[in-house]
Amino acid sequence: MSESWTRREFVKTAAMGVPVLAAGGVSAGLAPARAWSRTRSPIRVGLIGCGGRGTGAALQALRADSGAVLVAASDVFEDRLKSCLEGLRGELGDGAASRMDVPASRQFVGFDSYKGVIGADVDVVLLTSYPAFRPAHLKAAVDAGKHVFAEKPLAVDGPGLRSVYASADLAAARGQALLVGFCWRYNAGMRAVFEKITSGAIGKIQSVHTTYHTSTLSKRPRKEGWSDLEFQMRNWWHFTWVSGDHIVEQAIHSIDRLAWALGDRTPVRVNCLGGRAARSGPEHGNVYDHFAAIYEYADGTRAHHTCRQIDSCPNDNTDYVYGTLGSAVVNGWVPTYSIRGLAGQETWKHQGEIKDMYQVEHDELFASIRAGRPINDARRGANSTAMGIMARMAAYTGQTISWDQALSSKESLVPETLEFGPFPTPEVAVPGKTKFS
Ligand SMILES: NC(=O)c1ccc[n+]([C@@H]2O[C@H](COP(=O)([O-])OP(=O)(O)OC[C@H]3O[C@@H](n4cnc5c(N)ncnc54)[C@H](O)[C@@H]3O)[C@@H](O)[C@H]2O)c1
Repeated sequence: MSESWTRREFVKTAAMGVPVLAAGGVSAGLAPARAWSRTRSPIRVGLIGCGGRGTGAALQALRADSGAVLVAASDVFEDRLKSCLEGLRGELGDGAASRMDVPASRQFVGFDSYKGVIGADVDVVLLTSYPAFRPAHLKAAVDAGKHVFAEKPLAVDGPGLRSVYASADLAAARGQALLVGFCWRYNAGMRAVFEKITSGAIGKIQSVHTTYHTSTLSKRPRKEGWSDLEFQMRNWWHFTWVSGDHIVEQAIHSIDRLAWALGDRTPVRVNCLGGRAARSGPEHGNVYDHFAAIYEYADGTRAHHTCRQIDSCPNDNTDYVYGTLGSAVVNGWVPTYSIRGLAGQETWKHQGEIKDMYQVEHDELFASIRAGRPINDARRGANSTAMGIMARMAAYTGQTISWDQALSSKESLVPETLEFGPFPTPEVAVPGKTKFS
């Protein structure tokens, strides 16, 4: 497998926008989706990105469908691939023999290792690598006719977003599943309270404020022998080109729920303040540590999102939704799923069972494939990703950024080619100086 990466091919296609669909919904020049037999067993699953989430997603996929078998896996780093497969074998115990069939010939390492998985006669692909690579991996999987689970966020920049919208629409036209890992959408408490909010229980929504205030993430000090690029990839949360910054990578869950509260409308524009007050040291790369975004909608509604990754400060991960008849307070971690009247008194709270949302998303994905009605929530996932990206663009440049500007932005954060070797840390953005492009 190659030690280098090229983005040129997918960016060129992304620049063309949504593929033109021929009669029957198959895009001209692309392989038609494989004819899916609902009863086919085993369902062959391939994993791209063997880290924490990838290991979890593989387990959830296997638990979701008794006929699912992991048959191929890839990672840019061999140690991650090996530890993931070992971890899965440990979790599955005696079951591993029948649920995992990943011989050395279907273990792929390197930047183009995803091609090996997609080419391994798989039916479902799990995309759990770094956000920078998601658009290219998604395009390759969808073009090849695969059903897909794709972790959030779906992209880090404008060219990536355009590619993702094109893949989302192609998958929908061809009847391929494409479920995005906005896992709170699959949490029973969230579903119940947002159903209340969007069906009028607190009247017309006047304002929303979602928060994601947390501590800093892990740091991996540089090891001898690591090139610049390897160091940045091992510390990927802290480099904007690979993660999108924490408003796109982590707080995006809260931005997704802000969108949910407002009926999944898209904003017209955003202003966003942000900066870097408490980060230091090379492991902290070039990302900010706080953002405060104000989204404006066509009807004049303003919605707010704040996020912070700074140690020794109070944490909060709550959605506050204000309507003409009351408010909602939502926090999945506490958990709180609460509807309140105008005087602040609680009038309803979710009390039912809440299953593991990560398992539920895979249960529903595999059930939808078996039923011949594949879930595709990718446009919604792309919209939420775009909301995070536009806020970061506004914070970095200090300018108001419109939805249309963000979606047509030409700035490509992911280098056209990547090779392990020298790779200077990009500059920290300075509002008022850093230019939008
Ligand atoms: N939905 C959630 O609650 C949730 C939770 C955690 C992570 N995530 C998302 O899952 C993704 C992965 O996060 P993680 O915590 O598992 O990170 P991680 O670093 O543990 O794992 C990512 C893996 O992808 C590999 N990788 C990177 N680039 C690759 C490429 N081009 N080809 C193949 N493999 C590649 C890395 O080497 C690493 O092993 C991120 O997008 C993250 O935002 C979502």
